[in-house]
Amino acid sequence: MARHVHLLCLTVVLAAAAAPAHAIFHFDFRTDMVSPFDGAYSRHDTWRRAALASNARVARHAASHVKALGKKGGNISEAGAVGGTEGHWITVAVGTPPQPSKLVLDTSSPLIWAQCKLFDAAKTKQVEPVLDPSKSSTFQVVPCGDELCRAGGQHTNCTNNKCMYSSMYANLISDGVLASDTFTFGMEHDSVAAPLGFGCGTLAGDGLAGASGVMSLSWSNLSVITQLNVPRFSYCFSRFGEGKKSPLLFGRKANLQKYKTTGPIQSVPLIKNPWNEIYYYVPMVGISYGTKKLDVPVESLVLNKDGSGGTVIDSGSTLSYFVKPAFEELKKAVMETVKLPVAKYTVKEYQLCFELPHGTAMEKVEVPPLRLHFEGGAEMVVPRENYFMEPGPGLMCLAVGVTPMMFFPNMISNVMQQNMHVLFDVRNTKLFFAPTQCDKL
Ligand SMILES: *[C@@H]1O[C@H](CO)[C@@H](O)[C@H](O)[C@H]1NC(C)=O
Ligand SMILES: *[C@@H]1O[C@H](CO)[C@@H](O)[C@H](O)[C@H]1NC(C)=O
Ligand SMILES: *[C@@H]1O[C@H](CO)[C@@H](O)[C@H](O)[C@H]1NC(C)=O
Repeated sequence: MARHVHLLCLTVVLAAAAAPAHAIFHFDFRTDMVSPFDGAYSRHDTWRRAALASNARVARHAASHVKALGKKGGNISEAGAVGGTEGHWITVAVGTPPQPSKLVLDTSSPLIWAQCKLFDAAKTKQVEPVLDPSKSSTFQVVPCGDELCRAGGQHTNCTNNKCMYSSMYANLISDGVLASDTFTFGMEHDSVAAPLGFGCGTLAGDGLAGASGVMSLSWSNLSVITQLNVPRFSYCFSRFGEGKKSPLLFGRKANLQKYKTTGPIQSVPLIKNPWNEIYYYVPMVGISYGTKKLDVPVESLVLNKDGSGGTVIDSGSTLSYFVKPAFEELKKAVMETVKLPVAKYTVKEYQLCFELPHGTAMEKVEVPPLRLHFEGGAEMVVPRENYFMEPGPGLMCLAVGVTPMMFFPNMISNVMQQNMHVLFDVRNTKLFFAPTQCDKL
């Protein structure tokens, strides 16, 4: 399947004079991501909005997962108005001559899409930058019946002889036509250009907090990874809200051994779910809080034959999500361990909050790390700042929620991966990770 898409891309390369044909074979570059958390809002507001958007995102994901699994029960919760404060974005250049587009990095999106000036913009809130395809000599609409259109699966279809796409992100929907154009990634002295199929369309719902689209790094047919046959990539998220850089690396630049880590490099297998080929699953088999192993049945953590359950590693959500049996055990352990009063007033997006002593910052509170155990013995140590947030004055809230439905996997969010260099070795289906000071990488 991937081979077909790849072949098609080669054809497009030959057609697109601006893209050096060797580029797709060496998709090596490094860039810094911009965090949505270094923006316009106060620290408390940022966390609150992030949680709201995260919950909306996971509800949407759950709804399409249920559809993919052929089960009943997809119910999208209405999350209210929030600008999508989700995910980190990078600036890429699209077309010939290049036009800038800010794309949110997402390991759990089916396809790449960007806002386009193709349609009547009346119904939508287009946020600059918006692509103008009429100004690009390499822009092409993907015809109906094209391999790329078929590769879209449930996310594309043919309507009026056009290949239409539709994709959800957090609490917005983007739809339009599937197109192809040259994308240029990286900095001027270190850039790579390649042709990519992408959704060129408009948004319905709230904006993307300054970004203009999504760059899919998932396992799906239409991601950057599959279309360009990228063997591996890595990212390293700095602590949010501190204005520090978060690197994103591709191809031969992605190599944990080349960089200083602050702990051992560990690895776990990456698992593909035949029922939903978007997500990267990892075999989590247990959870500990400090030294206490939580009493969670392993069956509620592993991927089942019918495609339900399992654990996904995700770059886009802010809160992490555990299935109910795991969440309840974690909540119990946290309440026993954290010697603070449980807050009577709770920000509704969070399930458990503590009252901080007057005048004490969250950073001053000593709590043990959360530990995620994987098949084969690898262990991910999650320090306090990666699973607690401060969404209101004097409130310390657990940045872990309950999965919206039983079939849905546990989800390891980007906050949980802060200051960790995470490498997706897609070709060898392995995930490597090592604690790292991301701004020093
Ligand atoms: C979906 O969820 C909403 C709010 O949680 C609820 O009011 C509604 O009845 C649910 N719909 C279905 C079909 O379950
Ligand atoms: C991937 O692409 C192939 C061929 O184009 C198609 O048959 C398959 O259904 C696609 N997979 C998904 C999950 O959409
Ligand atoms: C086809 O796609 C368009 C745009 O995504 C959507 O509005 C329409 O409902 C889809 N139709 C079918 C039959 O899936």
